[in-house]
Amino acid sequence: MDSIVVTGNGALSGDIPIAGAKNACLTLMPATLLSDEPLTLTNAPRLSDIRTMTALLQSLGAEVSALQDGQVLAMSSHDLNNLTADYDIVRKMRASILVLGPMLARAGQAVVSLPGGCAIGARPVDLHLKALEAMGADLELRDGYVHAKAPSGGLKGAVVEFPFVSVGATENALMAATLAKGTTVLKNAAREPEIVDLAQCLQKMGAQIEGEGTSTITIQGVDRLGGGTHRVVTDRIELGTYMLAPAVCGGEVTCLGGRIDLLEAFCEKLDQAGVSVEQTEKGLKVSRKGDRVRAVDVTTEPYPGFPTDLQAQMMALLCTAEGTSVLEEKIFENRFMHAPELIRMGASIDVHGGTATVTGVDRLKGAPVMATDLRASVSLILAGLAAEGETIVNRVYHLDRGYEHVVRKLENVGAKIERIKGE
Ligand code: UD1
Repeated sequence: MDSIVVTGNGALSGDIPIAGAKNACLTLMPATLLSDEPLTLTNAPRLSDIRTMTALLQSLGAEVSALQDGQVLAMSSHDLNNLTADYDIVRKMRASILVLGPMLARAGQAVVSLPGGCAIGARPVDLHLKALEAMGADLELRDGYVHAKAPSGGLKGAVVEFPFVSVGATENALMAATLAKGTTVLKNAAREPEIVDLAQCLQKMGAQIEGEGTSTITIQGVDRLGGGTHRVVTDRIELGTYMLAPAVCGGEVTCLGGRIDLLEAFCEKLDQAGVSVEQTEKGLKVSRKGDRVRAVDVTTEPYPGFPTDLQAQMMALLCTAEGTSVLEEKIFENRFMHAPELIRMGASIDVHGGTATVTGVDRLKGAPVMATDLRASVSLILAGLAAEGETIVNRVYHLDRGYEHVVRKLENVGAKIERIKGE
């Protein structure tokens, strides 16, 4: 298994290009299943999760070609010749469940394995299933698979009120509702920029959707959807991650294509911590104001709150802040697996349930550490950039799921970082 070696090397300076959003792309790709006409995505990120979704769609009979070095995905689902999403592919990635709604809506039936994905607590899919049931689907859980059937006339519009906000369940229900008979109203829907991106793509395909970006989305079902071309929105999590690099080790970095409106709650916390963020024409210019950042308290929330996917990286920053910060994780249980690894690097962190108390130390020290999930792995790289000596991050395959060219992007702004090939 490959590892990444990072050596603290002082201030960073230069530009980091930000890719298209993994999480948007992973829901835009299954949207191809809704139509027999071609759908093309541009600005796609080059990531192993995208290759997994490609393999899954291909296994269902869709054609997916990665063009222009993977930045363009040309897809066509003219012939869906297999309606079973197999465990062997689905187990690699939780987002695989997003094929369920579109397949059911277009083909009237689907069999989808229950998903795997990051080991960040129990992550059920009950809300996805309840929404589809409300639209008339008959669902049965058998042998680790969801066996789903639409009524003979197809899915029916329904009022679906989510008991709490779920990004994936909103996406699945939104896609399914585009082809359902009548009106669907999704209440307490997720408002993430990735949902807005999906809605905009579906609108280009002919879907009738209103209210995306608010907590009530109304969808008027249509008989069929066409094709289209859509540019994947900027990855706000990759953006936030690289914004933390100059915050952690000093210097000035511009994250190309970055927009404050994608990350307002996060930018507010950076401001409180003493990190300057300036919107320029090129993107977001970020620099640390003093020698050390100040402690801040962070609570993760659905959008527009502070994203759970930036909690681990923010913790890496706060490990060397002046004072004590309290981080509360409200979206996922068991999402502090990076804490023991940061402690190995000299951080002072106390975890109690969903709360981590971080008391800043002067400097972290390099150590061998283990990546435990996607965002945890990148938090260890950030910590390594600020640490004295060498940090070896093992199990970096997690990183390949969500960050393209991480070594090259950081090297280009002056970081000392290297990927070592394992057996
Ligand atoms: C998506 C993102 C992930 C991000 C998360 C929260 C993708 C591919 N992944 O994940 O990176 O961390 O949003 O912003 O877009 N839940 C249930 N039942 C369900 C569905 C969810 O109990 O049927 C729970 C989850 O366990 C979690 C919470 O709801 O505690 C929110 O999860 P959700 O918003 O659905 O996350 P994902 O869509 O899986």
